[in-house]
Amino acid sequence: MSKTVFILNGPNLNLLGKRQPEIYGSDTLDDVTSNCAAVAAEFGLEIDLRQSNHEGELIDWIHEARENAVGIVMNPAAFTHTSVAILDALNTFEGPVFEVHISQVHKRESFRHHSYVSMRADGVMAGFGIEGYALAMRRMGALVGN
Ligand code: DQA
Repeated sequence: MSKTVFILNGPNLNLLGKRQPEIYGSDTLDDVTSNCAAVAAEFGLEIDLRQSNHEGELIDWIHEARENAVGIVMNPAAFTHTSVAILDALNTFEGPVFEVHISQVHKRESFRHHSYVSMRADGVMAGFGIEGYALAMRRMGALVGN
């Protein structure tokens, strides 16, 4: 059976490409999917990319990953900075976790400088645009791929 990496995206990322393009660029989540699928294929992995505006749904997907995924790449969006519940959920997952931010959060408002998710993440990408997801997938491939 092929190994799957969950790529989980938090609130407002459904609008990627339309939302504040001066910060987040004009690429969409579909572009993220195709870039990450290409990297995954190099390592014999599959991806399952999902987006939700709801904290509880993201938590349910992290729990699902315990059974159905070998790793998680996550852009928790604004929940990065607020959600102990997402941190707790990620702490129940045993595989690699990579945190991705499209923008360079440390150059932005101070409330974006703290991440609960970074307390669990095995690596963090910030400010590489959507390329950050593909770079995280490359590292994931090295760790859990063929
Ligand atoms: C983001 C950065 C967060 O601070 C913000 O709330 C987002 C997107 C990023 O990808 O740069 O929604 O995670």
